[in-house]
Amino acid sequence: MSDISRKNPAGEHAPLLPFPARFLTCWSLFVVPCAAIFGGFAANTDVSPRTALLCFAGLAALSAFVIRSLLAAQWRAHSGTVAAVRDTANARAAADDAALRTVLDGLQLPVLLFDDQRRIRFLNLPARDLLGPVSPGKDFATAIRNPEILAAIDRVIRSGSSETVEFRRQQPVSRLLRARIESLPDPGDGTRSFIVMLDDMTDSERMREVRSDFVADVSHELRTPLASVLSIVETLNGAARNDPDAQKRFMVILDEQAKRMARIVDDLLSLSRIEMNEHRPPEGIAELNEVIGGIVESSRLIAGERDMTITVDMPSPCEVAGDSLELSRLFQNLIDNAVKYGEAGTAVSVFGRFVDDTVHVTVQDRGAGIPREHIPRLTERFYRVDKGRSRAAGGTGLGLAIVKHVVSRHRGRLRIESDEGKGSRFTVELPLAPG
Ligand SMILES: Nc1ncnc2c1ncn2[C@@H]1O[C@H](COP(=O)(O)OP(=O)(O)O)[C@@H](O)[C@H]1O
Ligand SMILES: [Mg+2]
Repeated sequence: MSDISRKNPAGEHAPLLPFPARFLTCWSLFVVPCAAIFGGFAANTDVSPRTALLCFAGLAALSAFVIRSLLAAQWRAHSGTVAAVRDTANARAAADDAALRTVLDGLQLPVLLFDDQRRIRFLNLPARDLLGPVSPGKDFATAIRNPEILAAIDRVIRSGSSETVEFRRQQPVSRLLRARIESLPDPGDGTRSFIVMLDDMTDSERMREVRSDFVADVSHELRTPLASVLSIVETLNGAARNDPDAQKRFMVILDEQAKRMARIVDDLLSLSRIEMNEHRPPEGIAELNEVIGGIVESSRLIAGERDMTITVDMPSPCEVAGDSLELSRLFQNLIDNAVKYGEAGTAVSVFGRFVDDTVHVTVQDRGAGIPREHIPRLTERFYRVDKGRSRAAGGTGLGLAIVKHVVSRHRGRLRIESDEGKGSRFTVELPLAPG
């Protein structure tokens, strides 16, 4: 760091006149009256002018020698004092610099200091992490080449006021940054310094977007069943008031739509519960044969309606460090999907194998499969390849989002593979329980 806080090394000590000037001043103060006195002597006494001149020259030379010696001693003493003051001031400035550097490096915010020529004087550690290596002394534009922040810096240098600007930096990845630029107090030596504090707004911006997308998605998903409930209620109160057949038909639809809304709300609540706990690993032990066995039993009925079978081939025992309820929800979603989207009359297989200290459980169906471009987005909330088909099958579009979060809470991995026209494989990799 090149000196953050500059000081006048001589401090408040006024400098002496240069040595020759001091000497001439002192010597002439002595010699000029002497010249007058010797002149008077030569004019008013019998002393010859030559003798008077010789005496005066001797006295002048002697006085020059004495005054020079005295002044030299004083000058040496003064220079010593100045050097000592300068050394102390430099040492204090260096200590101040080091302390300031430590404080700024300890901050989490990236901070840069620059002068009134826009030359960088210092970057703290987070700033170096964010902006890469930038040498002090270089123009601010070498650190951040963005017209908005550069214009704001120029305005602050001109006016001495402070400014806040938001700007986007594309390299190495797109980030939204907020910069607060302020003028620092003058340390007393006329140098002007400015500070830029950067705040990375990318995550909060993404959170804002996610939140507003989420609200929009939820309202959109609820609006459709709600609209149909409202119009049915209106019809039941109006045109169908005296039509028992129509009333029966409408009651069936009413029941379906209300259940659909309840499913959406249920799934949203589980999703938010799982997300809330995602940073805390589960504490219990879950036996996957028990978890999967229970789900398969209850799903066989629905599979039977489509003439489908479910086969299970799991190693036993198979204990993972996990929450049985959440894992049931996970496999329920995968098996439900396999039954829903698999072709009628085919088999759904659930099989597991140990790989190192994990177990890989795959749910495989034979169906239309999933086009490759949709696979990366399947775990997004409400993302569906075919909305109509998902709704018709009673889907909420939240099942795989729940799966993703449960897997992530269990420190596992979800792998989705699909062959179009043949079927899909959803593999969950979970760490085995220790011991
Ligand atoms: N086994 C599968 N085969 C084909 N497509 C699937 C399968 N599982 C999920 N999908 C697709 O992924 C989408 C999201 O699944 P999910 O989150 O469980 O929502 P949904 O409520 O629609 O089942 C589904 O709508 C479907 O398009
Ligand atoms: Mg589903």
